[in-house]
Amino acid sequence: MKFVKLITVLQGLLFGNEAISYSNETLREHHNNLGNCGVDKSPISVVYEGIGKIETYPWLGVLIYPSNDKRYITSVVLVTRQIVIASAMDIDKLPKQDFRARSRVVLGQNCSNPGIRVKDYSYHPDYNINTYSTLALIQLETNYLMTYLQPICAPPRALDRPRFYVMTIDDCKRSTIKIHKMAYVDPEQCKIFYKRTELDIEKMWPTHSVCAKALTGVECVWSSGAALVLRQNNKWSLIGLGIYGPGCKAPSRFLEYSQYKPWILNSIARIGRPTVSRISTSHIILRRSLSNVQRYGPCDPEEVKAELFTDRTKIERGPTYKKQRVRYNFTIFSNLEYSCVVFRVYHYKRAKWFKDKPYIRLKRWCQSPKPICYSFQLLQIDFAVEIFFKESVVYQVMAYGREVRLIDMKKLMGRVNARKPYPPVVVGAD
Ligand SMILES: *[C@@H]1O[C@H](CO)[C@@H](O)[C@H](O)[C@H]1NC(C)=O
Ligand SMILES: *[C@@H]1O[C@H](CO)[C@@H](O)[C@H](O)[C@H]1NC(C)=O
Ligand SMILES: *[C@@H]1O[C@H](CO)[C@@H](O)[C@H](O)[C@H]1NC(C)=O
Repeated sequence: MKFVKLITVLQGLLFGNEAISYSNETLREHHNNLGNCGVDKSPISVVYEGIGKIETYPWLGVLIYPSNDKRYITSVVLVTRQIVIASAMDIDKLPKQDFRARSRVVLGQNCSNPGIRVKDYSYHPDYNINTYSTLALIQLETNYLMTYLQPICAPPRALDRPRFYVMTIDDCKRSTIKIHKMAYVDPEQCKIFYKRTELDIEKMWPTHSVCAKALTGVECVWSSGAALVLRQNNKWSLIGLGIYGPGCKAPSRFLEYSQYKPWILNSIARIGRPTVSRISTSHIILRRSLSNVQRYGPCDPEEVKAELFTDRTKIERGPTYKKQRVRYNFTIFSNLEYSCVVFRVYHYKRAKWFKDKPYIRLKRWCQSPKPICYSFQLLQIDFAVEIFFKESVVYQVMAYGREVRLIDMKKLMGRVNARKPYPPVVVGAD
């Protein structure tokens, strides 16, 4: 156990990332932040409705992305020392040219402050499939020196005369936020309201929602990313994150944070494991990073900026009308960050009578029994690429990423392997 911790700390230092977690202990530490969550800097315990200062709430902030012609600003909430959450739609609509390189997240300060760099981002798996109303997580380029980062707490298990508020960023440059007192709305009442007002659009319903409405206040409309928070025992907890609302005094839906929390914890725990996204039968994308959160889906422009290698092979066969299979081994190494590895196969000649599209599959080769393969993140990982086809095809691999220069991987692996007996080779599942 001690040894595992040492590695975690080592990696934390070397990658500037504290969250490569091997044990529950580390995870718990991260989420609860040693009980230091949900603080505010107000000298009084009364919360006034109306205008407040962002400096009071260190977990409230914005993501700023300066594009060529425009400066985009989106609300975020800090939920762990390295993760802020935002509305998936808000993040998705931002152009993705150098998104990570140019974006900054400013927390508990006005936007004239420099902010923290963005390491990566990822959408909840619901996004685009079940609903547009879901969360995006943004991983910050934080390190062990940034002890001033103070996330909001997860919702408490038991409510003790809670007071709900919604906080929205009013004017980021002038440090102002808006605070509304809220009342909880029963889910049935909420549904009825949306049906009656014809705002009941299937794809806009979050998978998990809480409903609340503003008690008082001027006419207003929630912007997405409004934080539904509660204060209990002098601590602030995040209950929900707003989606575009019909009007502050109408029942409004918020993404229920407690239901998304496991996804966030998993995203942190799975750092270092590869992900495979199937784009089509003949197109697969593999990613693997030792320090970034897992991502799925097509490569964004920033992920394909640095080429590691490419390969293009023509496989001549047929026409035999019999299915052929070709198998390649593909190994990803721990000294490289694979932001996107694209596997594609297509017919060498385009002909109308080619009915059967070629099919590509990635299979994991596990060098050790499963528990080690899936929990241990430093080893190289082997894949078998299988291609099924009838006519001549072209097989293409394009790997993008960067070399990891900060860490002496050999030394580290040597030390780690000294503790592990080398188990026999077994074939892993897909
Ligand atoms: C981690 O937590 C899970 C569920 O919370 C539990 O089943 C498991 O035994 C824990 N593992 C360790 C090493 O504590
Ligand atoms: C913005 O923040 C900076 C540094 O925290 C501070 O010096 C400045 O006065 C703030 N501006 C406003 C308008 O509050
Ligand atoms: C792929 O790797 C496995 C295990 O290391 C090996 O048994 C197999 O022969 C390799 N296949 C090819 C085509 O190199």
